[in-house]
Amino acid sequence: MIAHCEVGGESLHFLAIETSCDETAAAVFTDEPRILSNVIASQTELHARYGGVVPEVAARAHLQRLLPVIDEALHSAGVSLGDIGCVAVHNTPGLVGALLVGVSAAKILAATLEVPLIAVNHIEAHVYAARIAADRDIFPCVGLVVSGGHTALFHCRDPLALELLGSTRDDAAGEAFDKISQILGLGFPGGPAVDREAATGIPAAFKFPRSLMEPGNLDFSFSGLKTAVLYTAFGQDGKDRDTPLSPQRRADLAASFQQAVVDVLVEKSRRALQQTGLKRLAVGGGVAANRRLRQGLSEMVTRIGGELFIPPQELCTDNAAMAALAVEKWRRGQFAPPDLDAEPNLAFS
Ligand code: KG4
Ligand code: ZN
Repeated sequence: MIAHCEVGGESLHFLAIETSCDETAAAVFTDEPRILSNVIASQTELHARYGGVVPEVAARAHLQRLLPVIDEALHSAGVSLGDIGCVAVHNTPGLVGALLVGVSAAKILAATLEVPLIAVNHIEAHVYAARIAADRDIFPCVGLVVSGGHTALFHCRDPLALELLGSTRDDAAGEAFDKISQILGLGFPGGPAVDREAATGIPAAFKFPRSLMEPGNLDFSFSGLKTAVLYTAFGQDGKDRDTPLSPQRRADLAASFQQAVVDVLVEKSRRALQQTGLKRLAVGGGVAANRRLRQGLSEMVTRIGGELFIPPQELCTDNAAMAALAVEKWRRGQFAPPDLDAEPNLAFS
């Protein structure tokens, strides 16, 4: 397959697609990598009334929105389809129906343009977002991915060699934020709502559990914390749910919950750095937008004389620019086969 490599005689241009969950996204970047556009159409308003992402609604919305989003990404990058030398797509993990929309579009585009196709792992891409934002090499590093679907720590030897150090045994951190937001009546998506509410609360007002803290443990568990918040707010099994919370109590519950999540994420990240002997921590995923978490990680890394890499918000939550990891695969000749499939589940060893 011959790539249309050059625009203006210099860079190879990639078009990347992300449809793994509830953001329809496309980006254009060069092989440096340099991000030229990063367009995200959020479906938040479609899922808000259900209090969570509805897979079929997400897939149908991707189908409606993807081509206009790609058009906008090309337009704001100042390129046309004919300038694209490689197509990249997140094909794992995610909601299968949602992934299939992006994977199908990417395969058709690559075949029509007669350019290579590269499959990108969405979790590896969340770590790579920190590399893009830093604009310099950050590997080897510890990678903390905290999103709505995943909470995991990795030893990242290089951008494409991630070894799992620990992961959640039940809820992902973002999922816990979303559920607590629902319990406290703060709406969807829960993370930003709890983050805002917590700003006026007292983090030490309630002493919520921090799970799996025995020495050496790098796994996570947030389901006990979620139950503790529910019981504290509305009694055993949430039986007093009809009794309204006072504004201060609600803020204190949000702040104390958030602090419990942050304490665990910061401590496990510290242990991962210690165990691997690394000094660099790269953080990605929607929860990395959380202000208290950013502050907690920053203080911890400063204390141990390390370096923290957290991308700005638009590169933390789902986006296609982080698929610039495709550049690393391009350099290694790791192209996708024409029968590329969507893989909803992902196993790291
Ligand atoms: O990475 P992402 O956009 O999608 C997944 O791959 O899951 O992460 C979405 C998650 C949601 O659970 C959302 O509530 C959470 O990230 N989130 C936050 C914040 N902003 C988004 N959680 C805590 N604080 C925030 N500021
Ligand atoms: Zn994600």
